[in-house]
Amino acid sequence: MTDSMSSLASSLANKRILLGVTGSIAAYKSAELVRRLSEAGATVQVVMTEAAQAFVTPFTLQTLSGRAVHTALMDADAEATMGHIEQARWADLIIVAPASANFIAKLVQGQADDLLSAICLASEAPLAVAPAMNRQMWAHEATQANVATLVERGAKLFGPAAGEQACGEVGPGRMLEPDQIVAMSAALFDTGLLAGRRVLITAGPTQEDIDPVRYISNRSSGKMGFSIATAAAEAGAQVTLVSGPVALATPERVTRVDVRSAEEMLAAVAANLDGQEIVIAAAAVADYRPLQVATHKIKKQAGSAQLSLEQTPDILATIAADKGDLFVVGFAAETERLEENARLKLEKKSLDMIAANRVGSERGGFDSSENALKLLWQEGGVELPMLPKEKLARALVQIVAERFDAKDSTKNS
Ligand code: C5P
Repeated sequence: MTDSMSSLASSLANKRILLGVTGSIAAYKSAELVRRLSEAGATVQVVMTEAAQAFVTPFTLQTLSGRAVHTALMDADAEATMGHIEQARWADLIIVAPASANFIAKLVQGQADDLLSAICLASEAPLAVAPAMNRQMWAHEATQANVATLVERGAKLFGPAAGEQACGEVGPGRMLEPDQIVAMSAALFDTGLLAGRRVLITAGPTQEDIDPVRYISNRSSGKMGFSIATAAAEAGAQVTLVSGPVALATPERVTRVDVRSAEEMLAAVAANLDGQEIVIAAAAVADYRPLQVATHKIKKQAGSAQLSLEQTPDILATIAADKGDLFVVGFAAETERLEENARLKLEKKSLDMIAANRVGSERGGFDSSENALKLLWQEGGVELPMLPKEKLARALVQIVAERFDAKDSTKNS
């Protein structure tokens, strides 16, 4: 894989792309686009308008995407499995390719009379539109005004290209090639917010040995820390990820150091701290460990057993105590009085920011694929709603970058 291809793959890896296909002859290129997006690691959910199905069959796109293609708004079965609101929330990015002149006009008007337009209206995900139409239709001032309105509202315009058209005319209105659309989509995730910054992240649980076969641990899956590592790498940072035992693949462009115990995590963090600018401690480090580790497996005895525990080193507090210019972010998993307890920790551990999350409730927290966070710092804070951890991580990285820049500019002024 070339460098540019591997960075494409990395930015789109595990991204949820909702690909809307509308009625244009260029819909035949959507098949190739689905393949290219999937090859780059994205999960692609295709939604087709009725007109699109005259040009390419749902079966083709279903086979290539590996997911049932959705076509109807008023389909009770489809709505029962993944309704239009869920699809709108699911997507990290919506790409409409090809986008017909008619569909662009519908987007501008906020119509919601078919599944794709309803999803676009209901989604907070970024929207990219790849127009494909006859050059006169493209040049018409109605279309030009519509496209300008979409762009003004924040939509990304992919193309169109100029050249020979299916109708035999020559001019602007051709849909971009699938490879170009993939590259432009990947670039949307590469924010550059942490370009060149060095970031160290801790993730996962730690395991504190009792004897050669048993240990004390917790239910952390490592998903939050790994998602933050992915988001930070996409934002251009050089990321070191110190991880406890987890069943997760190393994100691309991330240097991973595996550890088991709190002691090992502290040693790995200390060994990699030099030159770091930001530390994000998302690991659920065990607070206690057995006072003594038995050399042999402890035998079952009659009656109850006692285990004497001692505190593990507080990795975060150790770093933050002597942090200099380092920007330090901690996590606080709380079951009660979330903000109060988190603010106490912010003070006590001399942190620049704390990400507080409620654990022990039905949704979110440990071992879950979604979470909600309250980000707090000395002068303020912001609340991030319940989101898939990948999206939450991107939002967190954006705020860390903003706060880091604010601290950096105060320091330099
Ligand atoms: O004090 P508490 O464990 O709730 O603090 C949580 C924060 O401190 C997390 O950011 C966690 O990664 C970090 N921590 C640590 N070392 C410990 C305990 C917690 O780095 N021994």
